[in-house]
Amino acid sequence: MNILILGSGGREHALAWATLQNPKCDKLIVAPGNAGIAQIAECAQFDINDGGVVAEFVSENAIDLVIIGPEAPLAAGVADRMREAGVSVFGPSAAAAKLEASKSFTKEICDAANAPTAAYGHFTDAEAAKAHVRETGAPTVVKADGLAAGKGVIIAETVAEAEAAIDDMFGGSFGAAGAEVVIEEFMTGEEASFFVLVDGDICLPIGTAQDHKRVGEGDTGLNTGGMGAYSPAPIMDDAVTQKALDEIVRPTMAEMVRRGTPYQGVLYVGLMIENGQPRLVEYNVRFGDPECQVLMLRLGAQAFDLMQACAEGRLDEAQVTWADDHAMTVVMAANGYPGSYEKSTEIKGLGRLKADSFNMMFHAGTTAENGKVLTSGGRVLNATARGETLQEARDRAYAMVDAVDWPEGFVRRDIGWRALG
Ligand code: AMP
Ligand code: GLY
Repeated sequence: MNILILGSGGREHALAWATLQNPKCDKLIVAPGNAGIAQIAECAQFDINDGGVVAEFVSENAIDLVIIGPEAPLAAGVADRMREAGVSVFGPSAAAAKLEASKSFTKEICDAANAPTAAYGHFTDAEAAKAHVRETGAPTVVKADGLAAGKGVIIAETVAEAEAAIDDMFGGSFGAAGAEVVIEEFMTGEEASFFVLVDGDICLPIGTAQDHKRVGEGDTGLNTGGMGAYSPAPIMDDAVTQKALDEIVRPTMAEMVRRGTPYQGVLYVGLMIENGQPRLVEYNVRFGDPECQVLMLRLGAQAFDLMQACAEGRLDEAQVTWADDHAMTVVMAANGYPGSYEKSTEIKGLGRLKADSFNMMFHAGTTAENGKVLTSGGRVLNATARGETLQEARDRAYAMVDAVDWPEGFVRRDIGWRALG
């Protein structure tokens, strides 16, 4: 088969790596890709958010299956264009991608499906939002309704902080994403991510993970896209997993079918778990980054079979073969991230790293120039490893980190602390 993957992050490097493990893959193209992806697949440059441009590329290159990594092309309707053109695609329609593109939409679906989640209010003007906050009190959570690259969520410790966040959002600091605001009850508990392949009302769980969103050790400091992750998430035991499926995922996916906008693709279920009860924090309509890296290393070649079955409407026949293993990924980021940081610094020593089904250095923000690997983003490399225990996976991941020569980068040294004890 000829396969096209859209995206350029560590997530897409991991998707490309897993796809290449599968003998069905004859040719793999990734657009736009990065320096690490370029070492294993052909990279192509075109506008991945323009369905017409993608459709033309797919037809010229006889692509059989398109895997969409990030949310932007999904929200822009690229998967719809593929389906119209009769091309198999892994990723939801724009109508179903609203589960990530609009927080108020997801809350409304949860209400209709009776799925446990935080109480909320939805506002289109600042005064009404502030009155709601004064009434419900702090701590509270203020969210820009639309896509804000993971930055549109403010946890306000006081009413004054919440009011300032509301003014900020309606003032345009998150652009169009903040034209509507959702105010949520602050939930306590432990967070975990649950990944489910969905085709209409068929739901197949493929793994759990926990990530570290804060930049600093001990989960302190600013929020980031994710500084590291591990899989499985110990808190997602069989009982919690079953509850999440029965009370949250299945009823909300049935509601999407009922509304004539069935979901097809991977659903990232962000959960808050307290006293064995999961509640929905958010849905994302794609794999998490860096959670995808640990899932792909654990699933290996079967990940492609599963995505293909989902894309081709055969999910009811698919099965996951679970291994009793653990994986961890440690994000290497540019000094200064998530604030301002230098680009185009050189990374050395990548050539001496192991690259096998236990140890993979996935690339995120890298480019190749004259035989050198240079940085091009904040999150740059993902040292990803697998082992019989989480400790073994951790030791392998940090051994990779330590073998890289990149003085302009940093890592958190405590990824997995909660699970390692
Ligand atoms: P979101 O983009 O909605 O996932 O929010 C980002 C992060 O903010 C989540 O991963 C949680 O850590 C936190 N968060 C969001 N909503 C809530 C809530 N209602 N209660 C507590 N924490 C939340
Ligand atoms: N790691 C969080 C996300 O991908 O949204």
